Amino acid sequence: MIYLSPPHMSGKELEYVKKAFESNYIAPVGEFVDRFERSIIDYTNVKSAVAVCNATSGLHLALRVLGIKDSKVAVSNFTFIGSVNPILYERNEPIFIDVDKYWHMDVELLEKAIKEDDIKAVILPHIYGQVADIKPILELCRKNGIYLIEDAAESLGAYYKWGIENEKLRVVFSGTIGEIGVYSFNGNKLLTTSSGGVLVSNNEKLVEKAKFLSTQAKEPDFIEYVHKEVGFNYRMSNILAAIGVGQMEVIEERIAKKREIFNWYKEFLDEEFMPELKSTRGTRWLTTLIFKNKNPFKIMKKLRENNIESRPLWNPMHLQPLFKGAKAYLNGRSEELFKKGLCLPSGTRLTKNQVKEICEIIQSS
Ligand SMILES: Cc1ncc(COP(=O)(O)O)c(C=O)c1O
Repeated sequence: MIYLSPPHMSGKELEYVKKAFESNYIAPVGEFVDRFERSIIDYTNVKSAVAVCNATSGLHLALRVLGIKDSKVAVSNFTFIGSVNPILYERNEPIFIDVDKYWHMDVELLEKAIKEDDIKAVILPHIYGQVADIKPILELCRKNGIYLIEDAAESLGAYYKWGIENEKLRVVFSGTIGEIGVYSFNGNKLLTTSSGGVLVSNNEKLVEKAKFLSTQAKEPDFIEYVHKEVGFNYRMSNILAAIGVGQMEVIEERIAKKREIFNWYKEFLDEEFMPELKSTRGTRWLTTLIFKNKNPFKIMKKLRENNIESRPLWNPMHLQPLFKGAKAYLNGRSEELFKKGLCLPSGTRLTKNQVKEICEIIQSS
């Protein structure tokens, strides 16, 4: 079976897990939690990070520490439900914003929504390893006093070529631009800890608060378990963080392979691939495309008959039964993407021959 994006260990993970066992820190604290957080800080050049049990809990903490409750939160309608559920955990109302030609939140629609609705925060998902056109969105948020939370669950390692500083190119990673960013280490992501997430921010106080809330909001100055507010049990285990440390050692290798796979697909298929925004480097976590004339659901079935996994593009949020009647600013783009598009196998162990075979099945469908 060829899976969509299976885990790919570096070979170091078991050694680190063994070390974690030997230390007996089989708990949500320990050397590897610290090392994993440090590896994210060093790689993304962010000030502070806290490892949590998944990106969904990270996004929940982001809203909590920013005090976004009983409010309106704008979010792209072309994303995974994990971007949206945390909005509901704090009794907020999601306002869905359709996407632009890069498949990410459309800034003009966002501007319209901000004029009409009292939006307190924006959750901006960067999808399929690529990034949104964040500069105008950031500007709009700053101008209107709105918090920007980056759902970088799918885009760890993607960056913006931000400009030239001191005659050197300044690179800024997705997740480190808004008030808070969140990465996922779920089983199908670029890197995995089986399940896991990391919340990052350049505001150390926000991360400190998120860490406090993620460990049951236990008041640090008391030994006798004193609690003044509601907390959560969202911290990452030291065992899983040990896997994360091993994974972070090969991040650039994995991105290079993902991008190579994307180029193979481009070589073999004459279809419309997800575009890459100018002056950015996406990771091509998943190779995604829309077909000019083919039915993606038929292709998915044909691939499945050949033991090859593929997936539809995101089913737009405004079409979900859960969000019947929710406010949405639409342009038809996300519905079109869902109807015409497909995610192709993108595992980093794929060979060029396998990609060729996959493409031949697609072409003959
Ligand atoms: C865009 C997006 N947001 C949020 C999540 C939630 O991440 P997690 O599974 O780590 O909770 C995912 C994926 O799983 C995702 O793809």
